[in-house]
Amino acid sequence: MAVVCKNEHGWVVDHKQYLDQTYCRRNTQPYEGVLTSFQFQADLFNIKCPFMMDSQFEVTQESHSHMGATGELESSVKRKRKRKRKAELNYGEVKAAEYHDQIKDQVLTAVNTLLELGKEVGYFPTEKNLQDLDNNVRARAAVKSLGETDICTEESCYHGDFPSIKDQQGIILKHNDDVTMSSIVNRPVRYPRDDPAVVSVDNDLYLLPPRCSFLLSDFSRVNLLQTSTEFPRFDMIVMDPPWQNKSVKRLKKYYSMSNEDLLDIPIPRLGTDNSLVVVWVTNRWQHIQFVKDTLFPRWSVQFLAEWHWVKVTKACEMVYTFDSPHRKPYEVLIIGSCRKPKTETNSEGIDEETVSQERATSQIPVSKVIVSIPCCIHSVKPPLQEVMKEYLPPNPHCLELFARNLTPDWTSWGNQVLKHQHKIYFDAVT
Ligand SMILES: C[S@@+](CC[C@H](N)C(=O)[O-])C[C@H]1O[C@@H](n2cnc3c(N)ncnc32)[C@H](O)[C@@H]1O
Repeated sequence: MAVVCKNEHGWVVDHKQYLDQTYCRRNTQPYEGVLTSFQFQADLFNIKCPFMMDSQFEVTQESHSHMGATGELESSVKRKRKRKRKAELNYGEVKAAEYHDQIKDQVLTAVNTLLELGKEVGYFPTEKNLQDLDNNVRARAAVKSLGETDICTEESCYHGDFPSIKDQQGIILKHNDDVTMSSIVNRPVRYPRDDPAVVSVDNDLYLLPPRCSFLLSDFSRVNLLQTSTEFPRFDMIVMDPPWQNKSVKRLKKYYSMSNEDLLDIPIPRLGTDNSLVVVWVTNRWQHIQFVKDTLFPRWSVQFLAEWHWVKVTKACEMVYTFDSPHRKPYEVLIIGSCRKPKTETNSEGIDEETVSQERATSQIPVSKVIVSIPCCIHSVKPPLQEVMKEYLPPNPHCLELFARNLTPDWTSWGNQVLKHQHKIYFDAVT
């Protein structure tokens, strides 16, 4: 279970536990010679203290006595950072500050009550252990040790052929399969068993979660999700687009896409009449506006809700000071619903489109908060299955676009869709 506790404001989610349960074998009988479970590398979630530069951390070590009751720095560090900033805020920063002011009370109330609840159920410690602070050295070392091991490079997706009609029927993988990258690129792939599996792709080992499907392809082949009979219409489409921003460019973690390209994602043809569309947005105000004012109307998606994911440390603090003008400890989740393409009148003379939209609108709360300890790999998001379950039909068909991992019972698409399935991210436990 990913959800540790919940209240009327939202959920505390344990991402690491969710992964470990996903890759834990349920079947105690050896399956094709292997009886192994896997756990996601623990240090990748070993976030003990707020994110800061080493130089800043050293200053905080010296100024423990200046810690406030909430663990927030009231020290020279804050003052030092403030002094550094000479330039006036630009237009985007002013709008971002306005946005923050609008949402801050509601998000803070939610976070505070959820953290208290997390302490009550024993998930978070009730007291901060200052000896334990290490500026997340273990977590940072764990990320570094992963290096750039990633055979699912974006380039491999461009070289694949357009699949023939026969290939569009896809392939089914089983445990211990040994396949080449070129045999799975641009083809629907399915793993139907209830236990996790290990497969070899170009001699690298990858883990598959139970009952997953994927399409490893570039955006130019995204239409396969719609044309191949392997894929259903989806009840929920989640995406974390490769937004263009400075940190993606600097870190060179993946290719980004222009906002204009995102307009061409065929959402209306991928979703059902009422499917939910869930878009992760970085804190840039321009992106938030773009989703609401341009993307959603283009996709015929009606805006329903705006939720926030707040990242906290194991010691129950936010990873950045909440009101910091530079970095926010939260990311935004914008939720909408696909509109019916045409309206019909029901027996009571009421417009069917209005009825269905009202149904969806009344179900999705306008604001909610998800609190979790983040994975320290750049841009990894928490799992949404359990949180969204109550707003979806039973056994929903769900699709993640721009995925870097697979999800049980979901279809995942992207040019790095197997990246975080690589065995290097996991430890075997027998
Ligand atoms: C922000 S990341 C997604 C992160 C993901 N939510 C996670 O939790 O790991 C965006 C992904 O989109 C992929 N991407 C960028 N351009 C693409 C394209 N043209 N076609 C398919 N995927 C693309 C990137 O390679 C990257 O894997």
